[in-house]
Amino acid sequence: MEFTQIPQLKQKISRVALGTWSIGGWMWGGQDDAESIATIHQALDLGINIIDTAPVYGFGLSEEIVGRALQLVGKRNEVVIATKAGISWKDGKVYRDTRKAVLEKELDDSLKRLQVDYIDLYQVHWPDSKTPVEETAQTMNSFLKAGKIRAIGVSNFSVDQMQQFAKIAPLNTLQSPFNLFEQAMEKDELAFCTKTKIATLGYGPLCRGLLSGAMQKERQFQGDDIRKVDPKFKEPRYSQYLQCTQRLQKWVEQKHKRSLLALAIRWVLDKEVNVALWGARKPNQLNGLDSVFGWNLTQQDFAEIDQIIQETVLDPIGPEFMMPPLRQT
Ligand SMILES: NC(=O)c1ccc[n+]([C@@H]2O[C@H](COP(=O)([O-])OP(=O)(O)OC[C@H]3O[C@@H](n4cnc5c(N)ncnc54)[C@H](OP(=O)(O)O)[C@@H]3O)[C@@H](O)[C@H]2O)c1
Repeated sequence: MEFTQIPQLKQKISRVALGTWSIGGWMWGGQDDAESIATIHQALDLGINIIDTAPVYGFGLSEEIVGRALQLVGKRNEVVIATKAGISWKDGKVYRDTRKAVLEKELDDSLKRLQVDYIDLYQVHWPDSKTPVEETAQTMNSFLKAGKIRAIGVSNFSVDQMQQFAKIAPLNTLQSPFNLFEQAMEKDELAFCTKTKIATLGYGPLCRGLLSGAMQKERQFQGDDIRKVDPKFKEPRYSQYLQCTQRLQKWVEQKHKRSLLALAIRWVLDKEVNVALWGARKPNQLNGLDSVFGWNLTQQDFAEIDQIIQETVLDPIGPEFMMPPLRQT
């Protein structure tokens, strides 16, 4: 395992985190709770000490499962809990809402579900242009001052939005989409965070499983699985992305004797993002963790990888389809 620091947090943080969106089941075609708890325990056994969740993941279920899993092993103080606020839901529909009263209620609910009395890293899930950023930042700062949270983060924020937020409250982390097929964060947000010492967490490092090495063209997604609406998983793009993963797999096997999955995570880490948020939902999905470490990608490697992507993905598309709507009122 490699470790990093998040400003304000004392303990060293593993550079691979467990992401628990799919553990909530919602938008992932359902999930078995016992398997989720086993996955969290497996992550801890393998040396992962940061778990990322959010109230909206399974409308509370993901946080509840994380809370239960940590209670069972009694390791709360050794684990960094990163959760979020600012996405509400009604009748199964979600919307952004970072108003003071909403965040205050959300924090209390999260503390209860997680069965803890503080949250290590509390992140604004999405910017909410209907609420003044000052109000949101002040509210987050009040939580910090009250000792209910230990570090403040934002997610999916632009550089401008981070600058406005940081005028009001200390900003410790940014969480953004970042993987071989979704590199947009690198140019502006990552450069800004590196310069201003804001730690970064890259989400979707496997691009929702596309970069796992196990994705098959014939795979049928069940129920509300997000990949039914993900434009990367629709033809003719899907074939292009799959062809790309096959070429990347060959390239990394020949050049570094590693798997595509190890390449996907290594790529995020070697781009100097502090933490890669690996979204595993079964214990054995974390089997390849060891092979992420003990090697590095060079500038020449990055160029060769980009060349393969450019040659095979002729019609690239970003992760924008995941953006939740603003509230109506
Ligand atoms: N802040 C935000 O707005 C935001 C947005 C998205 C995600 N996130 C965070 O980032 C985390 C990771 O992102 P993500 O969950 O979207 O995507 P991801 O890590 O790119 O992919 C996760 C999915 O890949 C598959 N997978 C994982 N390991 C595998 C393995 N070894 N072999 C085969 N398949 C494997 C699993 O799905 P199947 O088994 O079903 O194929 C899993 O659910 C989330 O859990 C969440 O904590 C944050």
